[in-house]
Amino acid sequence: MIKSENFSITLTPFLFYGILLMMTLKAKALAHPNIAFIKYWGMEDEARRIPANDSISMNLGCLSTRTTVTFDTQLKEDTLTLNGEPVTGEGLLRVQRFLDRIRTLAGKKVFAYVESENNFPIGAGLASSASGFAALTLAGTAALGLEFSERELSSLARFGSGSACRSIPGGFVEWRTDPLTGESYAESLAPADHWDLVDCVAILSDEHKPVGSEAGMRLAGSSPLQEARVLDAERRLDLCRGAILGRDFETLAKVTELDSNMMHAVMMTADPPLFYWLPGSLALMKAVKRWQKEGLPVTTTLDAGPNVHVICTKDAVEGVFERLRAFPGVKDVLRGIPAGPARLLSPDSQE
Ligand code: PMV
Repeated sequence: MIKSENFSITLTPFLFYGILLMMTLKAKALAHPNIAFIKYWGMEDEARRIPANDSISMNLGCLSTRTTVTFDTQLKEDTLTLNGEPVTGEGLLRVQRFLDRIRTLAGKKVFAYVESENNFPIGAGLASSASGFAALTLAGTAALGLEFSERELSSLARFGSGSACRSIPGGFVEWRTDPLTGESYAESLAPADHWDLVDCVAILSDEHKPVGSEAGMRLAGSSPLQEARVLDAERRLDLCRGAILGRDFETLAKVTELDSNMMHAVMMTADPPLFYWLPGSLALMKAVKRWQKEGLPVTTTLDAGPNVHVICTKDAVEGVFERLRAFPGVKDVLRGIPAGPARLLSPDSQE
């Protein structure tokens, strides 16, 4: 359970014009993005945020979002800043709709200002929406005094962004939907220290992607390949789950590449088609196939963006980093190691 001592309530003196209560409720949370080995792409039920298939991911430490939510009775509307810059338009609307959901659950009508800080590029297939909405879920509910279990938080987070539900629990995580009850939330398969994998994220572009995953996913059903991808998902999930639990890198590598390629095949064959890869993404994927032949324990996966997640075991990381840094077109390499769950921070924490 999320403990209530982690949020602060400041009751400034009661002002009576009729009865006007000035009140701020504030909480701060940290969450990590995650990289999916088995991706979700496409919704079975968009309104209820039920994905077409279950998915498996790993949280990425070193990369994080810190979000402070302050509900204030003096505010006339919700506001959002991202890395200090005010956000308007669709980005703000998405956050407002999510805050509405939290307000309804808490039975409170009070606007908030949301301040979010990311230490990694936003919108380039690095799951900034996952860590963003996971942190917002935790800080927003805590600020309004809602004490939710991890399962409830995960279930709620998926309404902000599907993959956000996987950034609530720690380590290696599976997002499942119960076909009977329709309950849909993520749970830890294994803690962060279960397997010392490293995600070396090769940044080829840090530009905002032209078609976000929510819009892109709506096209999934128009690809003739989506049905086959979804039908085969259970088999890939079993392979991936088994590979994680048994620390079997070879099987993980095989199923991770297959799953990523299947998702991108669906994207490329949608109507209209979506091409998230850049020429450099493909060149790097092919280079990794050569490195595997040389014996390096390494694999690749790409989300809805051109950057390549090059995943390896800890003992191979220095060699992989060296190769990535020297690779044409690679602007930067970020490092993500398995990380714990989303957590509350003290509102004044500089952490
Ligand atoms: O729920 P979103 O909008 O973060 O979409 C995530 C989609 C992929 O990253 C491409 C796949 C996944 O399962 O993370």
